[in-house]
Amino acid sequence: MAANGDVPGSLPCAVLLLLLMAFMACHAEERGMYLVLMEGDPVAFHRGSGPLEEGKRVDPNSEVYKAHAKHLVDSHDQLLQTTLDSGSYNKLYSFKHIVNGFSVHTTPSQANKLKHAPGVTLVERDRGAKLMTTYTPQFLGLPEGIWSQEGGDANAGEGLVIGFVDTGINPLHPSFAYDPTNPYTSNTSHFKGTCEAGPGFPASSCNGKIVSARFFSAGAQAATNLNTSYDFLSPLDAVGHGSHVASTAAGNPGVPVVLNGFFYGRASGMAPRARIAVYKAIYPTVGTLTDVVSAMDQATMDGVDVLTLSIGPDTPPEDTMTFLSVFDIFMLFARRAGVFVVQAAGNQGPGPSTVVSFSPWAVGAAASSTDRSYPSTLVLGNGQRIGGVGLSGPTLGNGLLQYKLVLAKDAVKVNGTFPRTAQYVEECQFAEALDPLLVQGSVVICIFSTGFFNGNSTLTAIIDTARALGFMGFVLVANPNYGDFIAEPLPFSVPGILIPRVAETQIIAQYYEQQTYRDQTGLAVRFSGRAAIGEGRISFFTGRAPIVSRFSSRGPDFIDKSRKPVDVLKPDILAPGHQVWAAWSPISILDPILSGYSFALLSGTSMATPHVAGIAALIKQYNPSWTPSMIASAMSTTATIVDNLGEPIMAEGYDIGSLYLSTHFDFGAGFISPNHAIDPGLVLTSGFEDYISFLCSLPNVNPATIRAITGGVCTQLLNHLSDLNLPSVTISELRGTLLVRRNVKNIGSKQETYLCSVIPPKGVMVSLNPPSFTIVPQGTQDLEIQLNVTQAMEDYSFGGIILTGSLNHIVRIPISVLPVSV
Ligand SMILES: *[C@@H]1O[C@H](CO)[C@@H](O)[C@H](O)[C@H]1NC(C)=O
Ligand SMILES: *[C@@H]1O[C@H](CO)[C@@H](O)[C@H](O)[C@H]1NC(C)=O
Ligand SMILES: *[C@@H]1O[C@H](CO)[C@@H](O)[C@H](O)[C@H]1NC(C)=O
Ligand SMILES: *[C@@H]1O[C@H](CO)[C@@H](O)[C@H](O)[C@H]1NC(C)=O
Ligand SMILES: *[C@@H]1O[C@H](CO)[C@@H](O)[C@H](O)[C@H]1NC(C)=O
Repeated sequence: MAANGDVPGSLPCAVLLLLLMAFMACHAEERGMYLVLMEGDPVAFHRGSGPLEEGKRVDPNSEVYKAHAKHLVDSHDQLLQTTLDSGSYNKLYSFKHIVNGFSVHTTPSQANKLKHAPGVTLVERDRGAKLMTTYTPQFLGLPEGIWSQEGGDANAGEGLVIGFVDTGINPLHPSFAYDPTNPYTSNTSHFKGTCEAGPGFPASSCNGKIVSARFFSAGAQAATNLNTSYDFLSPLDAVGHGSHVASTAAGNPGVPVVLNGFFYGRASGMAPRARIAVYKAIYPTVGTLTDVVSAMDQATMDGVDVLTLSIGPDTPPEDTMTFLSVFDIFMLFARRAGVFVVQAAGNQGPGPSTVVSFSPWAVGAAASSTDRSYPSTLVLGNGQRIGGVGLSGPTLGNGLLQYKLVLAKDAVKVNGTFPRTAQYVEECQFAEALDPLLVQGSVVICIFSTGFFNGNSTLTAIIDTARALGFMGFVLVANPNYGDFIAEPLPFSVPGILIPRVAETQIIAQYYEQQTYRDQTGLAVRFSGRAAIGEGRISFFTGRAPIVSRFSSRGPDFIDKSRKPVDVLKPDILAPGHQVWAAWSPISILDPILSGYSFALLSGTSMATPHVAGIAALIKQYNPSWTPSMIASAMSTTATIVDNLGEPIMAEGYDIGSLYLSTHFDFGAGFISPNHAIDPGLVLTSGFEDYISFLCSLPNVNPATIRAITGGVCTQLLNHLSDLNLPSVTISELRGTLLVRRNVKNIGSKQETYLCSVIPPKGVMVSLNPPSFTIVPQGTQDLEIQLNVTQAMEDYSFGGIILTGSLNHIVRIPISVLPVSV
């Protein structure tokens, strides 16, 4: 035992301290990426030629704008030269189109100098950016709805360009093929893109369907060493995510989905005739905010109609308000330039305030299931049938013949090599560990264990083991020690099934033990259990839907990383995002189990986002003059809050399989209803100046900060934050009474009389003034919403305002309120 507190073998304290100081010194000098915003108008909002009309597009190739752009770039370089030590930094990009600023790779101490430099309005550390359907068009009722009104799927989305900031695109995919027999005739002269060729992406990849493709890599290259054998410096998608997202929004119609020789149906984008503009900013190795915002800057300047952000920072900003993060500022200016911006709400549900979409100027998409499912069955020798998951063909004999059932743990080779611990062996990760004679031709049970729990084990390894040893099939069962797991239907190239529930695992275990004979030492010596795996690739359309997915991030929205709630409804809208079929990139560098495939069935708010993007394009095609705010309003006020059974939409809870009655913090205004959204009757809109008033009205905000960051002047404050003219009313703290104002505009072609009614939230009395009104086309009407607390509540309560028109328009405005005191 050591005396005097000395630990044998330890270094003296002084040495440790020196080491620590050396470490800290090195650490402090480690470079990072910083996003810097500057005072002064960017090119798109340059006032050289008088005040700019909102949404008006400028020509980035005109001499006056080129000169202004050069002036901005020079000013960035000059600022860096005069402020930072030479050799201490590397400028990555100048942002000049919709935001004036730059990204720089430098040390924290140098970045700190920039904070105090003249003209600098915001310095934010780059915290990185993450990646966050054959059947969905039918579920949304598009074929008989908008598509037919827009000339069928061959014309839906014609003339519109959807931009995607993502992992790039697979240009060889049939979803993005150009059909020479059906040339584009529409005028997209408002869009000016370019085709950046590179590895795996010849210039011919921009084929007319893909109208433009660029890549942004300065951030990624500064962050780490890219491996060019898959971090391609071209718009080529090595991941699959970008291709999936693009095809969901704008993929060609009727593309057959075939995996492992099985035909699953046909895939189509929401707006199959829309053109695709690719902005690759996320690489397999890394994604940076620097590359993402550069891509947003360029996409807006190129003139995309819709910007799809199935990516973004997945944490709130560290030292600024959520609404004033660099990412949100870029979205604000994209919106100001007339672009409809949709972003993923996040995949961190189902806890409260998990959304990563914050700002009222971007639409945040939540994810739901559809009524399609791919049930799969395991049939035991005693006739019991157990439901499971897996896009797998049946065991030989179409599931009617039965095969020996063997638990992998019971098939471990005597004296075999154990590359890792026993847990990995029972997870069927190593062919070397199993006795080939026992498992060949058998249905082998693998157990979800440590390796899957900590992410070291893979389904790919099970499939490899199954192939190497000739399993008839595999069953991956839940483990009581780890509880139920979440299983997604992945394509298996050998028969296989996942049994994600412990209760069902126990039925299998009981049958297996009854049928397995063991010697005194517990060694299994005779296996008389039998099983077969049924067909798992056939879809059924019987489920209750939509249901808000467990992973989909929830509101309420919040103001900064303390997560204090704020008076904006988030998420905004619910769209399909669970088990969505769409295009894939066979390289699939991040998901080996999907490598070699051209389609993938994926889930995430990343998948909901392009549904909203495509539908926005359809709405814009139908109503070319509509602003992004009108499109967003139309989507919200026509969204449905009931499911296919006519019951309130449910949401998945913490416990796997559990459901609860969902609220506006789960689904926003409701499930998107495109056929109603093209003709909403009334809209509630807000513009750039309104967003400035909103920002100026935030608590503890300095008007100078708002002015510096946005260029907007705090002349007009809102009475209350909830007075921003959103198609929803959200009040995070209602004390006593509050009068909220809204203004509606008739965008229908006829005069219409609306009757106002209220479904009051619990604990609140709501009265509307006027109780009814008649409104002419293009006319506007003020609406006063008086809310009086009748009973304080512990938590938010929810209700809605319903304006019912004489021409059958129904406008629904959701109310979410926390009544604090009477
Ligand atoms: C397309 O539209 C632009 C502007 O609206 C117009 O100047 C141009 O001539 C049109 N091009 C074609 C081919 O119709
Ligand atoms: C890059 O990736 C390839 C393929 O995975 C690998 O063989 C190679 O070692 C990697 N190179 C570096 C420098 O990591
Ligand atoms: C396993 O190893 C032990 C000790 O080396 C040996 O006695 C035994 O015969 C081996 N068994 C088999 C089946 O190879
Ligand atoms: C499993 O993963 C954990 C963390 O993900 C890692 O620390 C550990 O070394 C891995 N274990 C094995 C046996 O590979
Ligand atoms: C709500 O409160 C306001 C202000 O105190 C009051 O004027 C109004 O009559 C109240 N409304 C109802 C319906 O009680």
